[in-house]
Amino acid sequence: MKNPSLTLSLGVIFSIIFLFKPSHQVSNPRLLQAYAALQAWKHVITSDPNNFTANWCGLQVCNYTGVYCAPALDDPHTITVAGIDLNHANVAGSLPEELGLLTDLAIFHINSNRFCGTVPYSFRYLRLLHEFDISNNQFTGQFPSSVLYIPSLKYLDVRYNNFHGEVPSALFNLKLDALFLNNNRFQFSLPQNIGNSSLSVIVLANNDLKGCIPSSLANLKDTLNEVILINSGLRGCLPSNLGLLDKVRVFDISKNKLVGALPESMGGMKNLEQLNVAQNKLSGEVPASICSLTKLENFTYSYNYFCGEPPICIKLPEQDDRKNCIAYRPLQRSPQECATFYAHLVNCDAFGCTPRSPPPPSPPPPPPHVASHYP
Ligand SMILES: *[C@@H]1O[C@H](CO)[C@@H](O)[C@H](O)[C@H]1NC(C)=O
Ligand SMILES: *[C@@H]1O[C@H](CO)[C@@H](O)[C@H](O)[C@H]1NC(C)=O
Ligand SMILES: *[C@@H]1O[C@H](CO)[C@@H](O)[C@H](O)[C@H]1NC(C)=O
Ligand SMILES: *[C@@H]1O[C@H](CO)[C@@H](O)[C@H](O)[C@H]1NC(C)=O
Repeated sequence: MKNPSLTLSLGVIFSIIFLFKPSHQVSNPRLLQAYAALQAWKHVITSDPNNFTANWCGLQVCNYTGVYCAPALDDPHTITVAGIDLNHANVAGSLPEELGLLTDLAIFHINSNRFCGTVPYSFRYLRLLHEFDISNNQFTGQFPSSVLYIPSLKYLDVRYNNFHGEVPSALFNLKLDALFLNNNRFQFSLPQNIGNSSLSVIVLANNDLKGCIPSSLANLKDTLNEVILINSGLRGCLPSNLGLLDKVRVFDISKNKLVGALPESMGGMKNLEQLNVAQNKLSGEVPASICSLTKLENFTYSYNYFCGEPPICIKLPEQDDRKNCIAYRPLQRSPQECATFYAHLVNCDAFGCTPRSPPPPSPPPPPPHVASHYP
């Protein structure tokens, strides 16, 4: 660690350990580092109404409330701090750089507190971190890029904070299992390399995603289970290969600016239970292939401009087709509103989203005249 004050405090702790041998737990250099980290953290906690950190005193860090120890992965005889869980503690404060000393940490959960500021640069040294949950706090600034350097990360949850700006596309090169970015002010478009991740759950709702749903989402067909993109500013047409996502159970793209038809191929989403496409500008016929999905329990497609639905759609256990342009169905848009909408053709290419199909190869040069002598 380059931080001089850290080196200093570690020096002090080493003298302490030689002077006062702990009676119940044999300490070791890693627990001493953890002690420095946790004391630095306690120092920047400004409010702890439920006394979660009241017992964060002394070298027995494994006894601190919310601190969990386990044998080191690389040395089963060395006990280290492997987990922090301060969920729902209602603590106020910030995260100090010293937390980067907790290099054996696998789990960091501080959801539902009042932490503010940013995620320290030093979090990139937590090379073993699997779960990082700082949701429902008051963090601000750009996406916490330190996490991009943590190859072991599986669960990333930063929802319900005040982050803003770009989400680096490198995030999707991590082998994440679950990603929650919802309820922040991120502004980005889903990158083509989204298919490089191994996500099973992706929740981006209530952000400002300017672009479209990339066709490479279908690369996640072996893992993807739940997709929640509500109110995310998505535009353009749905990729026609969505139907490849045959493990997805919940798919919610409501409250966006999506246009065009629902792809017929979505009938391939064999495990779909909940489908919500409401409050977009989708049009055309609702494909029978979707309503025929045997596991589909709830299909909401209200507040669009669909002009037809096969009878099988109305027989679903739960469905909502209000405010469309479906003749003979109750609670539809006015014929005039529908006529105005259908006066304009939808051009999926106008959004610059679907990767342009490569230009056709230039025609071969005309054969020399002699070629015609061949049979
Ligand atoms: C926390 O500790 C303070 C001081 O010891 C005490 O007055 C307060 O009641 C405690 N709060 C809770 C929620 O236990
Ligand atoms: C830490 O916890 C252990 C096990 O619960 C207990 O035996 C020990 O007295 C505690 N140590 C301190 C310093 O509180
Ligand atoms: C996706 O992953 C591959 C292989 O790891 C890598 O070569 C490629 O650059 C990644 N794509 C993007 C857009 O980062
Ligand atoms: C069906 O889905 C809609 C939209 O997601 C939801 O509001 C409604 O509560 C769901 N109905 C049932 C019975 O789950």
